[in-house]
Amino acid sequence: MSDSKRQPKRYAIGNWKMNGDRASLSEVAIVAKAAKQLNRAEAMLCLPGPLIATASDFELSLGGQDCSPELAGAFTGDQSATLLADIGASAVIVGHSDRRTIHGETSKLVSAKASAAWAAGLQAIVCIGETAEEREAGKALNVLTEQLAASLSDGVTHQNTIVAYEPVWAIGTGLTASPYDIEMAHTHIRQYLRNRFAYGTRISLLYGGSLKGSNAAQIFSVPDVNGGLIGGASLRANDFVPIMQALDQT
Ligand code: PGA
Repeated sequence: MSDSKRQPKRYAIGNWKMNGDRASLSEVAIVAKAAKQLNRAEAMLCLPGPLIATASDFELSLGGQDCSPELAGAFTGDQSATLLADIGASAVIVGHSDRRTIHGETSKLVSAKASAAWAAGLQAIVCIGETAEEREAGKALNVLTEQLAASLSDGVTHQNTIVAYEPVWAIGTGLTASPYDIEMAHTHIRQYLRNRFAYGTRISLLYGGSLKGSNAAQIFSVPDVNGGLIGGASLRANDFVPIMQALDQT
């Protein structure tokens, strides 16, 4: 098989957001054990920064949830990609809608954060997604193109970047995009990636937004869905492990 025809890697990535404490590391232990049984999928947990160092004792891929666009310096309260890498992370989420909405982060800033992640040797998990208003106005696909254009710099490769499509209205709401809507969005994003990047067909493209055990297999069988970014259902191993397994088996 020629290199450009290889399939994107499949990822089940949990995003704990601002949840969890040291006692929750018992959940990480169970996820790490189950992750070893996976054949074609990889599991990862994006934990609150202070938990990463201890969680790195487990054999499991770990990620941060945000990083500064700067690698070091007088940026009180910010978290560097360099330190995330040093304490055991292999990836970091950038541009999650929580940060775009609550902290007003722009796609330009998201692109700078992704560059900082790469400089520290981390994969950037770049999130994009439209709001309910944008979808209702028929602008969803245009919004995705704009976010892709500004959030992804020319340095993107299939090895340093994962793209996550997370419709804002589906995050933490219990509302999931329909398989049809997900396919429309993922086909559109894939076309963009293929047109712009040499190995655009191999960049992993995840869906996120109220993904759970009961809808995982259906969502993972949508064309061009290479896995999921999972919030609420990643906090308990009992919820997350079946999602990892569904991805492995789909
Ligand atoms: P959710 O969150 O699964 O709780 O909807 C997804 C995310 O924000 O990444």
